[in-house]
Amino acid sequence: MEDYVKTVTIAVQPAYEARIENGLVCQTGAQLAELYVGGSLSVFVITNAAVRKHWGGALTDSLTQAKLRFQILEMGDGERYKTLATIEELATRLVERGADRRSLVVAFGGGVVGDMTGFLASIYMRGLDFVQVPTTFLAQVDAAIGGKTGVDLRAGKNLLGSFHQPRLVLIDPSVLGTLPEREYRAGVYEALKCGVIRNPQIFDFMEKEREAILRRDAAALEWLIAECVAVKAAVVGADERESGLRRILNFGHTIGHALEAETSYKQYLHGEAVAWGMVAASMIAAGLGKTDAETARRIISAVLAYAPLPRVTARSRNVARRLRADKKTVAGAVHFVLPVEIGRVEIVSDVPERAVLHAIDELRTLSQV
Ligand SMILES: NC(=O)c1ccc[n+]([C@@H]2O[C@H](COP(=O)([O-])OP(=O)(O)OC[C@H]3O[C@@H](n4cnc5c(N)ncnc54)[C@H](O)[C@@H]3O)[C@@H](O)[C@H]2O)c1
Ligand SMILES: [Zn+2]
Repeated sequence: MEDYVKTVTIAVQPAYEARIENGLVCQTGAQLAELYVGGSLSVFVITNAAVRKHWGGALTDSLTQAKLRFQILEMGDGERYKTLATIEELATRLVERGADRRSLVVAFGGGVVGDMTGFLASIYMRGLDFVQVPTTFLAQVDAAIGGKTGVDLRAGKNLLGSFHQPRLVLIDPSVLGTLPEREYRAGVYEALKCGVIRNPQIFDFMEKEREAILRRDAAALEWLIAECVAVKAAVVGADERESGLRRILNFGHTIGHALEAETSYKQYLHGEAVAWGMVAASMIAAGLGKTDAETARRIISAVLAYAPLPRVTARSRNVARRLRADKKTVAGAVHFVLPVEIGRVEIVSDVPERAVLHAIDELRTLSQV
């Protein structure tokens, strides 16, 4: 654990860094000043009331210390504010407060704040620089890296958006200390995903260090998050626009998305649905002989060790119908990311429907234990 990465480079054009360190929020001002040496920087922080309540003081103290001019804009809390209406409202407030093309926008919050701020930065006056300071587990290991930004439409999630890479990502694992327990665990599953798709060390660590991770041990989290960021960075660096490799990040997401949609996004947090999706994908992989029974068992046990998860009660046929509906919109087969061994997955497009139905039946059975 001593040899962890603290700076990860995301090798897109232009490249940028993600820095991971406990206490980093208190250095935000200094980090920004260093990035824009010589420029007179005007900073607009976008956040919400919950994040501001816990960590706003630490952030603003650091900006003050670095002698940066800054203003704070709050948006509503939750996915229901991830809309074009909020973008318009925030943009109007930016104009009123004098933001211009040289202003820097800082996203200070979870994935909702991050996706929205990135999208706003990509279109405000045809594009501003922005920096991510993610404050949820999910945003630190996933959403803040890779430049996908956007908002939801009533017709579906993330249907409007752009690719707009941040200039810098500042990750302070210690801010996860105030996350609600359920939100925290939802991020844990995405970390486990990083292990299965690309890095057996992450997986082993999460198997062995369950207690420390659930206790939010600072050193354990710093190591784990840095390793997950490195996985995401490697994948995004190889395939920025998701034409190939980046799809492996969707491990657990095919059935996960179907479960979320089937329950109208009310029963599961995203990471929880992905957790069930990883269990199902592992069962399917073992059933089709893509992986051995022991590998599937290890993945399933690791996921369930971080339970409780909300139960699966949806009917298998309805979930399968969701998958077919999805298939129409992408004009192709349903793609499953299936584990081959810990650290390696394969994208498979010819999974028979009976294998899917069987796996969802099994999720319901597991839910009853
Ligand atoms: N861009 C990407 O590549 C990408 C990837 C995955 C997910 N996403 C998006 O991310 C969003 C979900 O993000 P999320 O799970 O972070 O949810 P979220 O942003 O809604 O945050 C979850 C909750 O935690 C609160 N919170 C945040 N930080 C806190 C802290 N340190 N202490 C206490 N409370 C805190 C928030 O106010 C919120 O109520 C979705 O909209 C999803 O589409 C984007
Ligand atoms: Zn996800």
